[in-house]
Amino acid sequence: MGVNWVRAGSVYILLLGLILGAFLGSCNGGVSSRYARGNDISADMPLDSDVFALPVGYNAPQQVHITQGDHEGRGVIVSWVTPEEPGSNEVVYWAENSETKYSSLGTVVTYKYYNYSSPYIHHCTITNLEFDTKYFYEIGTGDVTRQFWFTTPPAVGPDVPYTFGLIGDLGQTFDSNRTLAHYESNPKGQAVLFVGDLSYADAYPLHDNNRWDSWARFVERSVAYQPWIWSAGNHEIDFLPEYGEGEPFKPYTHRYYVPYEASGSTSPLWYSIKRASAYIIVMSSYSAYGMYTPQYKWLISELPKVNRTETPWLIVVMHCPLYSTYTHHYMEGETMRVMFEKYFVQYKVDVVFSGHVHAYERTERISNIAYNIENGLCTPKYDGSAPVYITIGDGGNQEGLLYEMVDPQPLYSAFREPSYGHATFEIKNRTHAYYAWHRNQDGYAVEADSLWFHNLYWNSTQISSTASM
Ligand SMILES: *[C@@H]1O[C@H](CO)[C@@H](O)[C@H](O)[C@H]1NC(C)=O
Ligand SMILES: *[C@@H]1O[C@H](CO)[C@@H](O)[C@H](O)[C@H]1NC(C)=O
Ligand SMILES: *[C@@H]1O[C@H](CO)[C@@H](O)[C@H](O)[C@H]1NC(C)=O
Ligand SMILES: *[C@@H]1O[C@H](CO)[C@@H](O)[C@H](O)[C@H]1NC(C)=O
Ligand SMILES: *[C@@H]1O[C@H](CO)[C@@H](O)[C@H](O)[C@H]1NC(C)=O
Ligand SMILES: [Fe+2]
Repeated sequence: MGVNWVRAGSVYILLLGLILGAFLGSCNGGVSSRYARGNDISADMPLDSDVFALPVGYNAPQQVHITQGDHEGRGVIVSWVTPEEPGSNEVVYWAENSETKYSSLGTVVTYKYYNYSSPYIHHCTITNLEFDTKYFYEIGTGDVTRQFWFTTPPAVGPDVPYTFGLIGDLGQTFDSNRTLAHYESNPKGQAVLFVGDLSYADAYPLHDNNRWDSWARFVERSVAYQPWIWSAGNHEIDFLPEYGEGEPFKPYTHRYYVPYEASGSTSPLWYSIKRASAYIIVMSSYSAYGMYTPQYKWLISELPKVNRTETPWLIVVMHCPLYSTYTHHYMEGETMRVMFEKYFVQYKVDVVFSGHVHAYERTERISNIAYNIENGLCTPKYDGSAPVYITIGDGGNQEGLLYEMVDPQPLYSAFREPSYGHATFEIKNRTHAYYAWHRNQDGYAVEADSLWFHNLYWNSTQISSTASM
């Protein structure tokens, strides 16, 4: 409770805080961090920067990235690009400590975007891997063969420890590079939940798709070695009908394959995976989601399938936050909230991760499902079955940070700070997960915001909260 005083000041707000605070229980809500930031200019890194360097050799594979390739975690989709000619679609892979080499053959696709022609984009799904095993893999042939490695997750099960990294709205600025470097310096992350807005190529005239290529070269140093679980943001739409580009998500869906069919989805823009003790549901803020739409129908049939005895942790990822108290993009997630919040409460979603707002924020467990347009019950309330909503759109893109917040800070907002950073969600067992947000100005050892999550299915009572400035 005490931290409410810091921001509120006035007796009236203090009393209100005490009353609602008592209602909210013992949580330490309502910190607007006063952390002082430098005035970084978030310029994109020039194309001749080290992070965009081409691998040496004719037609050498570049832009290597991996993601989960099936529903359970025994598959990996390996994607890469060859610039001059298609070359080989083959991935050769072997388990560490094993002599046996396997190979898988993928496919190659290209696309055009106005007057841009993509390079050769390869996607190869490797299946039936052993759980919890380090694999090496090679792509390319001859003297341009490149080798990488990844570790498969442990078998799906209720008490399997696993740590997800969280990165959003990354872009390709000098700040983006700092965020990625900070994430890499954090030894905990085993797979990234990426909350959308990847390259920001659409900031360039004609959405210069060369910036999709440069972005993929930039992040290769992480995503070639651990899967990033993709969700699409508004900067993936690339809708430019005046130049004949009226097919939304065209560059994104050609470049980033996801295992959507494995979860019965009809679109790569929404899907689910199981990974260790987590069930991850990825949604699309920019695809139809009203009643009777494909996404709505899929989600409604998906939620009852989640077996919390098998995967206790139910995590939803969507680009646009349902709750945010920054003034930019304010209430953009409201229509999605109206559609889905009641199901998130009913099915006890533990946490919803979003981006879009270029700042950081964490809410209390709250819901606003009592409201209909007539009863006036339009204030979010503490709800022990509701998710925590975390906005982590602070990867560092060229649009910069958002500083303007709703003032005073609404009580449902537990902690907010406009700094670039990343977070980790560290599942310990079926009841406990430790969450920490790290701002880029500090080493990863500094946790600017942290929280012990008590799993909602296994413990539907109040969570504890700590936040440090
Ligand atoms: C595409 O068109 C733009 C605008 O006319 C031009 O600046 C650019 O050089 C063209 N790119 C290619 C690859 O032709
Ligand atoms: C990006 O970050 C890496 C790792 O810290 C560093 O080696 C590289 O020089 C940086 N590049 C740019 C353009 O900032
Ligand atoms: C849920 O998962 C547990 C553990 O894997 C299993 O024993 C149980 O049969 C599953 N329940 C259903 C309804 O499938
Ligand atoms: C689950 O993890 C928490 C945090 O590490 C620990 O305190 C608790 O004892 C664990 N529960 C079990 C059943 O091991
Ligand atoms: C349930 O949550 C409460 C309050 O956060 C906590 O004290 C308790 O240890 C939790 N129990 C389990 C089994 O996680
Ligand atoms: Fe966005």
